[in-house]
Amino acid sequence: MWQGAKDEDLQAAAAALRAGGLVAFPTETVYGLGADGLNAAACAQIFEAKGRPQDNPLILHIADRAMLEDIVEPLPPAGQALADRFWPGPLTLILRRRETVPDVVTAGLDTVAVRWPDHPVAQALIRATGRPLAAPSANKSGRPSPTQAWHVQADFGDELAGVIDGGQTAVGVESTIVDVTVDPPSLLRPGGITKEALEAVIGPVADPTLTNRPKAPGMKYRHYAPNVPVLRLPNAGLDTARAFLAQHAGEKVGLLLDDESLNVLAPFDPSVLVWNLGPKTHPELAAARLFDGLRRLEAAGCDIMLIASYDETGMGLAVANRINKLSQPLKEEDA
Ligand code: TXA
Ligand code: MG
Repeated sequence: MWQGAKDEDLQAAAAALRAGGLVAFPTETVYGLGADGLNAAACAQIFEAKGRPQDNPLILHIADRAMLEDIVEPLPPAGQALADRFWPGPLTLILRRRETVPDVVTAGLDTVAVRWPDHPVAQALIRATGRPLAAPSANKSGRPSPTQAWHVQADFGDELAGVIDGGQTAVGVESTIVDVTVDPPSLLRPGGITKEALEAVIGPVADPTLTNRPKAPGMKYRHYAPNVPVLRLPNAGLDTARAFLAQHAGEKVGLLLDDESLNVLAPFDPSVLVWNLGPKTHPELAAARLFDGLRRLEAAGCDIMLIASYDETGMGLAVANRINKLSQPLKEEDA
């Protein structure tokens, strides 16, 4: 394990990347599984290591303007406005690609996803490598995204050239993806920048995530799920939850719930495994804690998990999006 704060470790990681290897590194959203983004063979290894479908394109991570201009056509006005306001940060823009970008990165599309991360280790690594880094989340395909270095090691063991430990990531869910090649711009994945914040800069954005039709190619696959069933509690579903707990007495039930629900359901009950997602009024706490909680309750040997629902405003939109993908609704007849 390399340490993000050590220059010699950073140089070793950059050398591994330049040699075509895979290196996991921290960003402010989740850990990325990085490869030299202009090296087609290195990028192809990402798909192999993750077990990722070939039609699911990668994000290129940059750390300066020159790298951006090298890989994409000049930005349209909405893209420029969002980049000026939110880069570096948890925002990915879909842009018109240049020929320099290998086809394996874009899955053959004429657009490419680009992000300038706001994390000192990610930026230092990109600069030390001297290349944009292609990086999906550093989990095996379908698993919860990694927000700590041990999550990466749990999925990959020693399959990678290395992992840079940068501690816990701050945002905890992936970047917001906006396609600015269409008019109006389209929100392909809600994430670390809220829809409200985007609209304050560029006006109304289309939101295909509100319908069931997946827009970003990756959004159609099973996602973020631990190895046991997860059931989603409706808002104000405490009676249903009580009935569910009674029904499943004797099983190892894990509760990933907001502060208020936990206080009512399992205030001091040591027979239940709990993970506190924070007060419902602060979905950014749920975002930061969600993936770690799924992995920890799974590692603790839960048979089944119950998870809270979130209102789709502010960061609640990104949290609800992830929870909806990894869980099934708990119906009263299940309880
Ligand atoms: O926060 C993040 O975005 C993290 C960190 C590591 O930066 N990365 C991440 O990558 O979440 P990944 O591969 O798990 O998600 C990338 C998403 C996929 O849903 C993919 O389909 C979409 O971006 N995407 C990539 N290129 C695209 C394109 N040209 N058009 C539409 N969607 C694209
Ligand atoms: Mg992912």
